[in-house]
Amino acid sequence: MFSFLSKDQTTGEVAERQLDEANIPAHVAIIMDGNGRWAQQRHLPRIAGHKQGMNTVKTVAKAASHLGVKVLTLYAFSTENWKRPTTEVNYLMKLPVDFFGTFVPDLIKNNIRVKVMGYTEDLPDATQKAVRDAIAATKDCTGMVLNFALNYGGRAEIVTAVQRLAQQVQAGTLDPTAIDEALLSQNLMTGDLGDLQDPDLLIRTSGEERLSNFMLWQVAYSEFVFMAQHWPDFDQTTLEEAIYQYQQRHRRFGGLTTA
Ligand code: FPP
Repeated sequence: MFSFLSKDQTTGEVAERQLDEANIPAHVAIIMDGNGRWAQQRHLPRIAGHKQGMNTVKTVAKAASHLGVKVLTLYAFSTENWKRPTTEVNYLMKLPVDFFGTFVPDLIKNNIRVKVMGYTEDLPDATQKAVRDAIAATKDCTGMVLNFALNYGGRAEIVTAVQRLAQQVQAGTLDPTAIDEALLSQNLMTGDLGDLQDPDLLIRTSGEERLSNFMLWQVAYSEFVFMAQHWPDFDQTTLEEAIYQYQQRHRRFGGLTTA
């Protein structure tokens, strides 16, 4: 058990809470929302929110790793985000270059391994290179996996997996009756995470309560926690608060409660 000071999102009341170290969610996934609104509230351009959001990624990655999270998946750019104005898209594509350019030594110090899921082949060359270099530089890290969803979409991911399986059926190397949940899971972009591929806890910031095409298959039994804070205001305490809420839930996976 360890304690942290939690602040109520509506009343602002501060209370001391206990976190159970034995019940830290192994895989935490976050929809980092509200960068634009954070900036607008400060009369700043939207990209200022994304820049601050990138700094929050650094803080939260270290905090999650210290808490004992095994996989932290962050929704950084969706297959639908290309619809945004070109200047914003260009800025978002530059962020991984800045992020990995400055943060890889810290990641290595914290034994954090970088993984990326998404259609990275469609990203600009400099972004692809930054991602490849970060993956190579951290490949021997054995601690938390920091998994960025970059040009990722949950439906597209399932379609790609189905196409791959269909090709094997067509080639005569796969019997259709051998296609089960485990095989489809292995063919998703999280397949290499093995037992850790499904998030235990899904957090969305900024008060929105929707999935936005994120990990549609993998969140089947995840606990959802929605936080009012915009992503640039998220920090270690907000993460602890989300984990505290997770620890108050009784996960049943379709069975009956034993608690
Ligand atoms: C959603 O906020 C946020 C994004 C689409 C981008 C998320 C990216 C980051 C937090 C930085 C990622 C960092 C790295 C290292 C890749 P929004 O723009 O939709 O906010 P709004 O709903 O208030 O407009």
